Amino acid sequence: MKPLRIVVLGGTGFVGRHLVARLHADGHSIRVLSRNRDRKRELSVLPRVRIDNCDVHDAAALARALAGADAAINLVGILNERGSDGSGFHKAHVVLTETLIAACKANSVPRLLQMSALRAGEGSSHYLRTRAEAEARVRNSGLAWTIFRPSVIFGRDDGLFTRFAALLTLTPVLPLARPGARFAPVFVGDVSEAFARALVHPHSIGHSYELFGPRVIALKDLVRWTAQLRGMRRWIIGLPDALGALQARVGEWLPGKPISRDNFRSLLIDSVGTRDGLGELGIVATPMELIVPALLAKAPR
Ligand SMILES: NC(=O)c1ccc[n+]([C@@H]2O[C@H](COP(=O)([O-])OP(=O)(O)OC[C@H]3O[C@@H](n4cnc5c(N)ncnc54)[C@H](OP(=O)(O)O)[C@@H]3O)[C@@H](O)[C@H]2O)c1
Repeated sequence: MKPLRIVVLGGTGFVGRHLVARLHADGHSIRVLSRNRDRKRELSVLPRVRIDNCDVHDAAALARALAGADAAINLVGILNERGSDGSGFHKAHVVLTETLIAACKANSVPRLLQMSALRAGEGSSHYLRTRAEAEARVRNSGLAWTIFRPSVIFGRDDGLFTRFAALLTLTPVLPLARPGARFAPVFVGDVSEAFARALVHPHSIGHSYELFGPRVIALKDLVRWTAQLRGMRRWIIGLPDALGALQARVGEWLPGKPISRDNFRSLLIDSVGTRDGLGELGIVATPMELIVPALLAKAPR
């Protein structure tokens, strides 16, 4: 396999850190573009990984950053925007994807791997709607594209188990919106493997892969399991939708926006899949029972 020169957008985040290390292990050279590389330096210890400051929303800067690349990977995504009219989601998901496609074309970068989300385009959230709009731009780009649609992703430093474990330390009682919302959590190692395989397998060109784990779990059970694994006795109260919607409205005004109305609307759609994309790529999904207990045992209490 010929090593590739890959440019990654959003590569400093949770998935990016795992994926970049996985691609590096295959011998590829990776250039990670960050809005602030000084805050995200841990990846730069790998010899063929370079983190560069780049305002990826600036078309000219992005085009310059892609010069000489064989492939681009777009991992940029947000769960919350500054306002609530959808324009923040549109900019981060749709406009950025358009800018990236133009930059790829300007530099004759043939290959584009695009991160999306399971059930993109369904329901009424700005998050899922703009994900689908970005996918449509990629499908119509004329590039050799592959799209990935994961459920929630777990692993070291995730925003799921690790985040709930931290939240549970703060309160003996946790009121939970959409407690019955269902997920099929997928391991970050499997997600990274899917990207690494798709990158070098021509049959993945023009395909979308749903990425989900072997077990479907309701949100309240996921939070209860987290508390149990941390040895914490917590009262997790499932809120009916009227109260959950109210919690989401209030959450938008709290520091760090723990929940927003758009998150609530996303949670109305179960994050479960129908086509086993990991299997299609020859990957056996890792059960969360194999990873999460050790993960939570190590996390600071
Ligand atoms: N984690 C999950 O459970 C999950 C599930 C389904 C889909 N996804 C998708 O997978 C991708 C990676 O997820 P993640 O958990 O690794 O996210 P993350 O930890 O939040 O990282 C995303 C990265 O994107 C960059 N970024 C964030 N907002 C941006 C903006 N407005 N403009 C430009 N760059 C921005 C940031 O890099 P810099 O600050 O260095 O610029 C950040 O490190 C996202 O698209 C996410 O929506 C994640």
